Amino acid sequence: MRVPLIAGNWKMNSTVSEARELVSKMLRELDEIDGVDKVICPPFISLAAVYGLIKGSSIKLGAQNLYFTERGAYTGEISPLMVADLCEFVIIGHSERRQYFNETDEIVNKKVPAALKVGLKPILCIGERLEENEAGLTEKVVTSQLRSALAGIAYINGIIIAYEPVWAIGTGKAATSKQANQTISLIRRNISQLYDKEIAQNLRILYGGSVTADNATEFMQQSEIDGALVGGASLKADQFLSIVKQTSEVVK
Ligand code: PGA
Repeated sequence: MRVPLIAGNWKMNSTVSEARELVSKMLRELDEIDGVDKVICPPFISLAAVYGLIKGSSIKLGAQNLYFTERGAYTGEISPLMVADLCEFVIIGHSERRQYFNETDEIVNKKVPAALKVGLKPILCIGERLEENEAGLTEKVVTSQLRSALAGIAYINGIIIAYEPVWAIGTGKAATSKQANQTISLIRRNISQLYDKEIAQNLRILYGGSVTADNATEFMQQSEIDGALVGGASLKADQFLSIVKQTSEVVK
């Protein structure tokens, strides 16, 4: 049985005081929901404050990125060691990083083992762009991104994959639950070929892209979907709580 996971990716939203406020609003209720791993991923600058607030609760912390070197003269970067000090999870290869910060498959392939090495659980994001989807290239693009990101990595214990079609992110146009389930099933088949069947069966694969309180249950009911990476809706306490509650209901 794969424990579902809901991760809130706050992206570049919330000051430190706003982050405190948002966490305080949902802390108690979120803490009490069982059967689901609950992860929040605030901006780096708020991680320490949020860590202090959620300490001792069942809520887990994630970062939105990291650099692949442990220390050194890399002004402005955050290393895996620093992230691992506070966080259990780290988002890697989000499409916004690929699109706006030139993050290539090669860079993603360096970040994944760097995170695993310090005991972090990477949430590896992959997904096709609109023009690729329209050209019928979804399977090809997703397979290629997955295989490049994992090239040369022998052990992927703890890794989580998020299938996030780029055209569904922040657009209000989610994929259909069936489409998402199909692509996630393809990802699982690839993992089975690259590693083995057991690893593939135990691996959690999330869907991301315009998940809200209105469509969460539908996604969670799909056999291959093990949770969600939530952007916009994770910035509203009631929405995020509702998504997590719906997920908990589905697994009961
Ligand atoms: P969204 O973002 O839920 O706002 O579409 C998802 C993501 O980027 O992880």
